[in-house]
Amino acid sequence: MSYEQSISFIAQPGGCLTGQIRVPGDKSISHRSIMLGSLSEGTMTISGFLQGEDSLATLKAFRSMGVEINGPDDNGKVIIHGVGMHGLKKPETDLDLGNSGTSMRLLTGLLSVQGFDLTLSGDHSLSSRPMKRVTDPVIQMGAVIEFNEKGTAPLNIYSDGNNQLKGIAYTLPMASAQVKSCVLLAGLYAQGETCVIEPAPTRDHTERMLQGFGYPLQVNRLDEQRSKICLKGGGKLIACDIDVPSDISSAAFFMVGASIAEGSDITLNHVGINPTRTGIINILREMGADITLSDEKEVGGEPVADIRIRYAPLHGIHIPEDQVPLAIDEFPAISIAAACASGQTVLTGAEELRVKESDRIQAMIDGMKILGIDCEGTKDGMIINGGEFSSGTVNSLGDHRIAMSFAMAALNAKGSITIKDCANVNTSFPNFVSLAQSTGLKVSS
Ligand code: S3P
Repeated sequence: MSYEQSISFIAQPGGCLTGQIRVPGDKSISHRSIMLGSLSEGTMTISGFLQGEDSLATLKAFRSMGVEINGPDDNGKVIIHGVGMHGLKKPETDLDLGNSGTSMRLLTGLLSVQGFDLTLSGDHSLSSRPMKRVTDPVIQMGAVIEFNEKGTAPLNIYSDGNNQLKGIAYTLPMASAQVKSCVLLAGLYAQGETCVIEPAPTRDHTERMLQGFGYPLQVNRLDEQRSKICLKGGGKLIACDIDVPSDISSAAFFMVGASIAEGSDITLNHVGINPTRTGIINILREMGADITLSDEKEVGGEPVADIRIRYAPLHGIHIPEDQVPLAIDEFPAISIAAACASGQTVLTGAEELRVKESDRIQAMIDGMKILGIDCEGTKDGMIINGGEFSSGTVNSLGDHRIAMSFAMAALNAKGSITIKDCANVNTSFPNFVSLAQSTGLKVSS
């Protein structure tokens, strides 16, 4: 067993969550601010940058391609001296992106014709995640990329300065912001127009930020669900400062924890509430949660608010499928809420959960069964009958969101819960244990 795998969390039962906290910066926006800032003209400052291993992997990748990046300092301030669209240099080694799917998928598009060859690699989990979903469209555009027969990393990208990308109109086979972003970022370097048609709304940070950096882009709603996003290659990005809101995906653990623990009353400050990310609020409210928003404002093109959650009894629901992409990272936490709700909760249309940092359907079902919950996994979701958590030892399978979700389960458990393989909590929420302790969760590592 490696040192990494040996980190376990132990969560003692009971307690409740109170106080006011600010969870770390948004992971998706942190990645994108490094990418666009590096390619922009001028110097920009990021505040509230997430100092987790995933976004730091993106930062290190651009540093190793010759971009001067200062920080992050203790407050998450980063200064980037942009090199322009064509200023990146060949890195001396492979770009090791660790556990970060967002880094690998977005960089596959962005780095596909930089005029130098490079290799994108990652850890064991990232090396088993599907990459053909991004290599397929970029190869259609003219990129030359080699990968293994399973369609997984490492990805070898060949660009000798002679190959050119051509714009395409690409219909996403699944609702994925990573694939959408990959194609749009490749489109910045393509001849003519690149369009992406998405089957359902997914997080739109790439679109918002490109516009914030002065890059023209058109978004057309085709119907209730589908949109077409188009841009023309050959433009430039103008440096612009970014204030990263707190990550609603990190806030989600506290939203669920407070909803299941009697006596809880917690406020989460300055959380991003972009409507393409608020499925967690909509779903919990439909289950009966008491959630109120205040101090709503817009910061750098993204809406933010303070979110107050007070304990309220929850009931099971059939989760509306249109909420699935809007809460795609929150289902480990939502499963914990469902296990504490009265009645049955049914999740469908969520097969994408099987190819996240772990198979999140299997990981949650296995852990909840160990803890005495009557539940089962289906091809594209889960059926969870509300009950009470007993004590036991579960495995996070190295997945940060599984680990933090089971830590919250202890608030409503009869005995302590031990969670194995928790080192990857550092990918998205490095101060989770101390921040959660400060609100009343009896967790230690
Ligand atoms: C992300 C998109 C989502 C999400 C991931 C971050 C992004 O993935 O699960 O954590 O920053 O674009 P998919 O695009 O695969 O849905």
